[in-house]
Amino acid sequence: MENRTLGESGLTVPVVGMGTWQTFDVHGTQAEENASVVVDRALAAGANFFDSSPMYGESERVLGGTLQGRRDKALVATKVWTNSMAEGREQMERAFAYFGGYVDLYQIHNLVNWKEHLATVEGLKQEGKIGAIGATHYQASAFGELKTVMKTGRITTIQIPYNPMERDVEKEILPLAADIGLGVIVMRPLFQGKLMRKNISESQLKPLAEFGVRTWAQALLKWVLSDPRCHVAIPATSKPERMTENAAAGSGPWFGPEERTYVAKLAMA
Ligand SMILES: NC(=O)c1ccc[n+]([C@@H]2O[C@H](COP(=O)([O-])OP(=O)(O)OC[C@H]3O[C@@H](n4cnc5c(N)ncnc54)[C@H](OP(=O)(O)O)[C@@H]3O)[C@@H](O)[C@H]2O)c1
Repeated sequence: MENRTLGESGLTVPVVGMGTWQTFDVHGTQAEENASVVVDRALAAGANFFDSSPMYGESERVLGGTLQGRRDKALVATKVWTNSMAEGREQMERAFAYFGGYVDLYQIHNLVNWKEHLATVEGLKQEGKIGAIGATHYQASAFGELKTVMKTGRITTIQIPYNPMERDVEKEILPLAADIGLGVIVMRPLFQGKLMRKNISESQLKPLAEFGVRTWAQALLKWVLSDPRCHVAIPATSKPERMTENAAAGSGPWFGPEERTYVAKLAMA
């Protein structure tokens, strides 16, 4: 697994991590044990960067549970997501309880009430309870506001969608992030799983074999990670074997422009 440093945050992360939206929003022994096995596979493969949010129902609690006794092996990114400052503090208290009193990266989810929450997380960072501060948004219509936040100098990472079907970040967000030296976390690398519904054959993947690509998911992850402005992709999965498969995309050789064009064409066909 290759590691990259999330820009000025100084956080070094594996290039493949894991998201928890929907997949970790589960209840009950069997589902939570399954989540734990997904995390076992992630850790075994060196994909130890986990992203969550209070917006994802049970996910923070379930992720925290899977990390019991091995919190030190993981890098945890979570978020604050509420208009209310008081509720934001409550979300943070809950997260600290789930994640052993420390969150490696705190993000303002979808920029909701970012001015007030930034002040709070900055205080917590000074207290040593947070490693770094970031912001996320999933919609191109919010990228103007995201640029404003990026330029404040108060965040060191952004989390944005990037895959062959969602390329808006190429226009301004990725160039600006590279200019300022921000860490870039890529959400939805598989287009929320929608790109996995395409029937890509073995023979279509053959030209990518020399890059270590065996599956369509790996081709899409390598497509993202071959852009050096992107530091980590966080595909979500509820299936242990898919965690192993996704993590295997986390080392070179990386695609050049030709292979990226080839994968984008497969995605759009
Ligand atoms: N605003 C925000 O801050 C924001 C917004 C969106 C997402 N995010 C973060 O980004 C993470 C990733 O985005 P996402 O979950 O929306 O989408 P994604 O990672 O692009 O796709 C996830 C879907 O792909 C499937 N999948 C994963 N690996 C696979 C494989 N190897 N083969 C076949 N199918 C596979 C999963 O199904 P199975 O469970 O069946 O494997 C799941 O349904 C989220 O979990 C969340 O942490 C943040």
